[in-house]
Amino acid sequence: MSSSEKLRVLLVFGTRPEAIKMCPLVNELRSQPDDFEVKVCVTGQHREMLDQVLSAFRVAPDYDLSIMKPNQTLFDITSNALLGLKNVIESANPDIVLVHGDTTTSFAAALAAFYLGVPIGHVEAGLRTRNLSSPWPEEMNRQAVDVMSSIYFAPTDQAKRNLLNESKPIEAIYVTGNTGIDALRTTVREDYQNEILDWADGSRLILITAHRRENLGAPMHSMFRAIRRVIEERPDVKAVYPIHMNPAVRKAAHGELDSCDRLRIIDPLEVLDFHNIMARSFLILTDSGGIQEEAPSLGKPVLVMRDTTERPEGVAAGTLKLVGTEEDAIYRSAVDLLDDEAAYREMANASNPYGDGFACRRIASILSSWAAGTRQ
Ligand code: UD1
Ligand code: UDP
Repeated sequence: MSSSEKLRVLLVFGTRPEAIKMCPLVNELRSQPDDFEVKVCVTGQHREMLDQVLSAFRVAPDYDLSIMKPNQTLFDITSNALLGLKNVIESANPDIVLVHGDTTTSFAAALAAFYLGVPIGHVEAGLRTRNLSSPWPEEMNRQAVDVMSSIYFAPTDQAKRNLLNESKPIEAIYVTGNTGIDALRTTVREDYQNEILDWADGSRLILITAHRRENLGAPMHSMFRAIRRVIEERPDVKAVYPIHMNPAVRKAAHGELDSCDRLRIIDPLEVLDFHNIMARSFLILTDSGGIQEEAPSLGKPVLVMRDTTERPEGVAAGTLKLVGTEEDAIYRSAVDLLDDEAAYREMANASNPYGDGFACRRIASILSSWAAGTRQ
């Protein structure tokens, strides 16, 4: 690369949460056309839920592998993404490939770049549970991506410490904040209105999401039964559940929750709607990763229906509580917050352990310095 050349950056992502956290970075890099030549490849691991985000952030991919198929397995996603990305990376010929987080798309994209000898930058590097079964297979994905990466964009000091504990070179690790908070800065609006909020007016609104692979089956049924008990016993509570497109999740949710009057199961929300409804909800019950980062900024208590979390910063800040997937434990934690004002207030503290909303700007500046370093 000569000193006059722009840095050729290829960003690869494929699922909803990666898109929400990478589109702000795409737009930041594209706003600096003198420094960066930006290409975007989506694997299409998700289809509808990915397209919703691309259109919200007005990002048009340069390459779309369109790999999603019904009941896709990890073998399908990994092999189709890996083979498709070989061609894309060879054709785009980037100086660096940026991947995000811990999905199978991220793992396959990093592996493709690694095989082709292209440096990898890992956005949201260093998150760990150190339990390869939880979340599965994400803990393996994120550790493997970090093994292959050359630059680490760690969202927090804790993530940086995790990387240092694994002997990753300190000069390659940058604490940037989480790009998901950048997205949140642009979506939440004072004057937001929605029919769901009209329906819930006068009630305390619980926002629900659930989709983790390791929770499919018995744990998910027990999560839903706990939620049903809470809603049935508390007449001043309503709940909205924008449901993941996974048919296995949908079947379990409809089976357990359709008879619940004050709970509405709806299609996945556009990110702007989701963030605004989150900002106006009373309580969040979820097994999602990204929501654990967004809710503390909004001061919304979250009961995390998982056994482990790679986001201990939100637990330390007091906004997240890890409640597992047992029916009684979830039920008790939820009614405690509904019935005990002091306990609720203690959790409903806005804090920003995941950054100030300017992570993308920092990543762009680090990439510029990295490019200058590689030119010397
Ligand atoms: C994936 C990620 C997970 C992330 C989650 C975010 C892996 C292994 N898992 O899990 O880390 O938390 O995305 O949501 O990478 N589907 C659709 N339309 C869509 C999206 C999904 O129909 O827009 C259906 C497909 O039938 C698919 C199923 O959902 O078979 C599951 O999707 P998949 O990407 O395989 O796994 P997720 O559970 O979404
Ligand atoms: N989200 C959304 N619409 C919805 C539900 C969630 O836009 O109906 C957003 C949410 O704000 C967060 C992200 O999707 O930014 C979380 O994605 P998901 O739970 O699918 O994946 P995870 O974060 O667990 O990997």
